[in-house]
Amino acid sequence: MIKIDHLYQTFKTPDGRDIHAVNDVSIHIKAGEIFGIIGRSGAGKSTLVRAINFLSKPTAGTMTVDGHCLNNLSAAELRRMRTKIGMIFQHFNLLSSRTVFENIALPLELLGVDKQTITEKVDRLIDLVDLSAHRNKYPKQLSGGQKQRVGIARALANDPTVLLSDEATSALDPETTRATLALLQKINQELGVTIVLITHEMEVVKQICDRVVVMDNGKVVESGTVLEVFRHPKHPTTRSMLADVVVHDMPERIIESVRSRILASKEKGRVAKLLRLTFVGSEVTMPVLSEMTRRYDVDFNILQGQVEELKGTSFGMLVILAECPSHAAFGQASDFLSENHVDLEEILV
Ligand SMILES: Nc1ncnc2c1ncn2[C@@H]1O[C@H](COP(=O)(O)OP(=O)(O)OP(=O)(O)O)[C@@H](O)[C@H]1O
Ligand SMILES: [Mg+2]
Repeated sequence: MIKIDHLYQTFKTPDGRDIHAVNDVSIHIKAGEIFGIIGRSGAGKSTLVRAINFLSKPTAGTMTVDGHCLNNLSAAELRRMRTKIGMIFQHFNLLSSRTVFENIALPLELLGVDKQTITEKVDRLIDLVDLSAHRNKYPKQLSGGQKQRVGIARALANDPTVLLSDEATSALDPETTRATLALLQKINQELGVTIVLITHEMEVVKQICDRVVVMDNGKVVESGTVLEVFRHPKHPTTRSMLADVVVHDMPERIIESVRSRILASKEKGRVAKLLRLTFVGSEVTMPVLSEMTRRYDVDFNILQGQVEELKGTSFGMLVILAECPSHAAFGQASDFLSENHVDLEEILV
């Protein structure tokens, strides 16, 4: 659907230095996906988005949307392609002198669509985004969430196959963010529109994305399904961005006390380990931990626990200090956990 290959976008600073805002980025996005691109401020996300719809010509690399390589298109073909890519923005970009209806109608007017078709289409979109009660209001009479719904309806006016969202929920409170994301998910499911969500918030990725890439300093530093990235974040940037949502790093104070308990166990001839267990709700069908305790004589203390919803699937994480009679018993217990779809990672080795 969208194939970004070895894309570079380089800017020159006034003193002649090169800034590699996008630095050898390759991303393949499938039709019908909700794809997240997350990164801190300055990571290159907006520059990448401008390249996706060719608002700026990349320094190098290719961009293919819906089978059309944008590098080779004439200006007229590019304009036509862009109508297939809807865009929503952090600050909504609505025209203050136009009503809700007129804002949504604008892209159709620009294409010279006849009045009756415009009215039918715009009213259908107003229904879709649930703004019928506000049809003839002006932007200044609307809340942020309502303005963003106008932005979404306007972006859908030309029946795009792709919707690009650059920080569309960043100016909204958490509850309005959830409602706006739920609307985007509905649009994805009902209209089959592929959605690319640019964000600096893991919370956004967690709620609706299927796959995600993490950008840092112009590069993709991590990619995978949202579940994979939440379970096993590899890059320090990912881990620190995840920290608002899932705790992956234990405080040093706890680590210290755990170390001394591990040593104390060893002196007693037993084996103690600090473990992180992760599991997906639908995969775990029996009380695995109590069964493990019974079968292999494992004692454990829970030091940290969390259950999160990832696009409607529950994802759990427990950090436990486990103590067993021997290494062999520990091996059997960890095999038992894996067989029952609980992932196990030793934190202190
Ligand atoms: N037109 C430009 N000229 C020079 N440098 C630019 C230009 N556009 C962006 N940059 C630089 O490229 C880098 C990436 O910027 P970009 O706006 O893509 O980041 P971002 O990830 O969208 O950040 P934010 O989360 O703050 O929106 C930054 O260092 C920025 O200063
Ligand atoms: Mg940006």
